[in-house]
Parts: sequence; C-alpha cells; structure tokens
Amino acid sequence: MTDPAIRTTTPTAVPVPAPATPDGFRAMMSGFPTGVGVVTTTDHRGAPRGMTCSSVCSVSLEPPTLLVCLRDGSPTLDAVLRSGVFAVNLLHEGAREAAELFASGDPRRFDLVPWEQDPDMAGPHLSRDAHTVADCDVVLTQKLGSHVVVCGAVRHIAERHSRPPLLYGLRQFRAWSAM
Ligand SMILES: Cc1cc2nc3c(=O)[nH]c(=O)nc-3n(C[C@H](O)[C@H](O)[C@H](O)COP(=O)(O)O)c2cc1C
Repeated sequence: MTDPAIRTTTPTAVPVPAPATPDGFRAMMSGFPTGVGVVTTTDHRGAPRGMTCSSVCSVSLEPPTLLVCLRDGSPTLDAVLRSGVFAVNLLHEGAREAAELFASGDPRRFDLVPWEQDPDMAGPHLSRDAHTVADCDVVLTQKLGSHVVVCGAVRHIAERHSRPPLLYGLRQFRAWSAM
C-alpha cells in the first residue's frame, strides 16, 4: 500500500541549462515581480535627478539599510555618487505614468510631476506619486559589471499616501489592488 504522505509528481523533461546571456537574464528576472521606486537626488548644479528603479532591496534592519543598483553612466548615478545622498520614492498603484516618465530618459521629467525638496530631504520627494519615501546616506558603493551597487543608510522614512504599491513583473506594470 502506498503511504498517503508520499506524493508523487508527474515526471517532466529535465530542462537543458542554457549559457546565461544578458537577454536570458533579463527574461529570467522579469519572472520575479517587484515594487517600483524612483531614486532621486540633486546634482552639483542643484538640479533634480531621478530614475525609475526596481532593484530596491532591503539589506539590514539595524541599522536600517537598503541597496539600489544603478546603470553605470547614468546621470542619476553620477549625481548620487557626487552628493552622497539619495531618496527612494516607493510608487503607489496610481503612479504608473511617473514610473514610465522616470524610465524614459526625458530631460524634462521633473517639470512634469509635482515634487518637493527641503534641506532635510536626501533628494526630491515625488509628492503625488510616492506612497513612502526613504531618505538615505550613501554608505557603500561597488561597481559590478554594467551597474553600480549603492547601499544607503536610511535616515528618514516619510509616509506620503496610504495607497497600495505599484508592481512590475513580466515587463508589465500592475496595480496591487487588481491582483
Ligand atoms: C520598471 C523599471 C525598473 C527599472 N529599474 C532599474 C534599475 O533598477 N536600475 C537601473 O539602472 N535602471 C532601471 N530601469 C531603467 C531606468 O529607469 C532608465 O534607464 C532611466 O532612463 C535611467 O535614468 P537616467 O537617464 O537618469 O540614467 C528601470 C526601468 C523600469 C521601467
């Protein structure tokens, strides 16, 4: 008699491992949905900089620390490294247009959304589009391939809107409430 605790599965073909390529890796990571952030800072001329970023990851609780991975050569990355500070704007589910704008390379991006900046903030806060903003001080950077890993100690957390988050996966945006 078969032990009911032992479950059998239908045998499937063993997948043939393929060499990892950038396209294959991008496709693999598209199957790992995330929230969506916009990393912001101020450049050496005082101009706001920012880019859409899904590579936001918690690193440490004590002290509160996160990391973001930013494309080497990005003007936003350059400004983060020069200023030593950045803000992570976590977007709510109504902020899809802002996510697309800050991924577009549009030089007028800060003319097209409301934002606030004061001396206590590490970078512009997207006052309409972020549900929460973390102000961070850069504590570690490491170039790794095409990107630079930037670790930030979180100094302030500002809750701006109590709305559920925007999600990104399978190369599509989704509202948390629609899931
Ligand atoms: C949903 C989404 C997530 C993204 N995440 C990242 C990321 O984690 N790191 C990155 O370097 N670029 C990411 N990008 C691409 C940048 O947002 C895009 O290259 C942007 O133009 C960079 O801004 P910049 O001109 O200031 O460099 C993402 C784009 C999208 C649509």
